[in-house]
Formats: sequence, structure tokens, C-alpha cells
Amino acid sequence: MNQVIELIKADVKKEKPAVESLGFGKHFTDYMFVMDYNDEKGWHQPRITPYAPLVLEPSAMVFHYAQAVFEGLKAYRTKDGRVLLFRPEKNVARLNTSCQRLSIPQIDEEVVLDAIKQLVEVEKDWVPDKEGTSLYIRPFIIATESSLGVHPAHEYKLMVILSPVGSYYGDQLKPVRIYVEDEYVRAVRGGVGFIKTAGNYAASLKAQEKAEERGYEQVLWLDGVERKYIEEVGSMNIFFKINGEVVTPKLNGSILGGITRDSVIELLKYWGVPVKEVKISIDEVYDAYQKGELEEVFGTGTAAVISPVGELGWKDITMKIAGADKEDSIANRLYNTLTGIQLGKQEDPLHWTVEVK
Ligand code: COI
Repeated sequence: MNQVIELIKADVKKEKPAVESLGFGKHFTDYMFVMDYNDEKGWHQPRITPYAPLVLEPSAMVFHYAQAVFEGLKAYRTKDGRVLLFRPEKNVARLNTSCQRLSIPQIDEEVVLDAIKQLVEVEKDWVPDKEGTSLYIRPFIIATESSLGVHPAHEYKLMVILSPVGSYYGDQLKPVRIYVEDEYVRAVRGGVGFIKTAGNYAASLKAQEKAEERGYEQVLWLDGVERKYIEEVGSMNIFFKINGEVVTPKLNGSILGGITRDSVIELLKYWGVPVKEVKISIDEVYDAYQKGELEEVFGTGTAAVISPVGELGWKDITMKIAGADKEDSIANRLYNTLTGIQLGKQEDPLHWTVEVK
């Protein structure tokens, strides 16, 4: 820890929620991290303050022109009581990539990483220890300048809030049902699909509603031009196991470069399992399905971890994925290994975890 961050003490501490009823992103801890930006001082006044509502001008630019970027990572409790972060340097680096695309001033990655560690250290007691739970860390930046002119803002706030969470989909092991969206699109190359900005998620909601009306949990996005090539799922990247080989859509400028996605590719390579980043169309997936070669489909994400996909709906076709329930699936092996590393239960051969102390 190198920087001195002011700590403004909370008068009253919240009661912690029962670990069985955590859900995802419903409860928030006692403190948050805040840092401001203006052109004169740059990023300044880093502080840990009681979690509380913000006061912003109705004319704050984030409300009108959506300069808003965010990240998601987790702190995990090990059996012996330590607290580990998983590749946090990747999140702060990606936050800067997002800032760069939206003309938000760059952050000092070391300062923000250190702030995250200090905040988690202060809130250590909030890191739950039940299997499948963690403390979700949500760093984000918004444009706070009061102005209706369309231009990059001159004032911002960076905040980090913390939420004890369970599984994103309710039951982590239950395979999810995914609907292939061929009417709405999420992103195009040259746009903002490759970064974590709030607008990408706002634009996804209509299709998400449509999928839910049809009984599905998430949307699988196709590319925005030909509406043919697979991109990603609502809150995760997607992988297919076809005829013994694992494939995932190649990053192309409109797909989010997930950190869990990257970790899965690294792990598979480390194990010697064939894995490829490819341009893959929904027709190719259907073709593999028809030939009986589509062995597994799974999603990856910080919130979602590894989520087996049990069913893909596309137009009026339903693809039931047999491998989703198999004990010896690659998705299960990945889930057990990743969570094993994150919880300090097993060796960390690629040196991904960072202890908070
Ligand atoms: C995450 O996995 O951390 C995400 O950011 C997905 C989120 C939108 C729930």
C-alpha cells in the first residue's frame, strides 16, 4: 500500500444480510471509495467515505450524454480467512481502455488498484465465506460537469462500491437457456461494444425482455452487420465445444474482452486442451448441433463465473445441449479450477490471485 487515503468513518454500521439471501448486487457495504477529477487538479482527493447517496446537478453530463464506464471484479474468502482478488490489474487496465474510448481522462492504474485493495481491507468483514459467494467490486466513473453542450466533460467522479453476492443466475449449476437475437444488435465495429460502458447494457434491455418473454434467461448477440456471426451473451462471453475442440468468438472490436474469457483460454492452453478464437456463425453452430458435434456451450464472466448453457433458441429452432449436465464437462472442470484458485483451495499456476492485506 503506498498512497495515504483519507478514511471518513461511518457513524452507524449496517447489519449484514443473511448469506443465503444474497442474490446479485442487492446489498452494499458501509464504505465506498471516491475520487474527483477536474482539469485543473486532475484526479484528486482520494477518500474512503461512508456509502451514501450522491448529490449531483440534474444537468450533470452523465445523465444526458452517458459518459459512464465501469468494471466488475470480486474478492474471495479463503478457508483460512485470507481475502484474495483475481487478476485485478486487468480490470483497472480495462477501465482505462474504456475511458480512452469515451474521452474520459486516464486514471493512474496503480492508484486505483491500491484504492480497491484499501477499500476491501477496510470492508474485509463483508467478504462472505459460503461456497459460491464473494464480495463483488464495482469501480465506475461518471461525468459530473453541469453542462448541456455535447463535449467531453471537464469534471468526473470515480467511485468503487462493494456488494456481497451469491450466484448471478440464482442456481450456479443449473444450465441457462439462451435466445439467439436476430432482430436487435448490440454493437458494431468502431462503436463501443469492446468497452464496459453503461449504454451497452441499456441498449441490450429490449432484447433481454424479448428473450425473457419467450422463457429464456439471456440473449446471445450476433454481429451488427451481417447478423450472422456470434459475438457474446448479455453478461458473459461465450464458448462452444465442438468435436473435441473449444472455440470462442475472436475479439473483433465489438466484443468485450472478458477477463474470465482470457483466463479460460489461458487455462485450457495450460492443460493442453485445444482452444481457438475464431469467427463463428450461428449457422456453423447449428450445423455442428445437427451433426451431433456440439458437445458443450458455456458462458464466462466475473459475475456469471462459468455458466453451462442447456438450451439455445434460434428462430423456431431449439438446440438442447446434452453436455450441460455432465459431471465431467469442460465447463465443470473450468468452474472447479477457477473457483478453486480464487478461493485459494488449489494451486495458482498462472499467478492470478493477489492477497489483500
Ligand atoms: C461482470 O461480470 O462483472 C459484469 O460486469 C456483468 C454485469 C453487467 C453483471
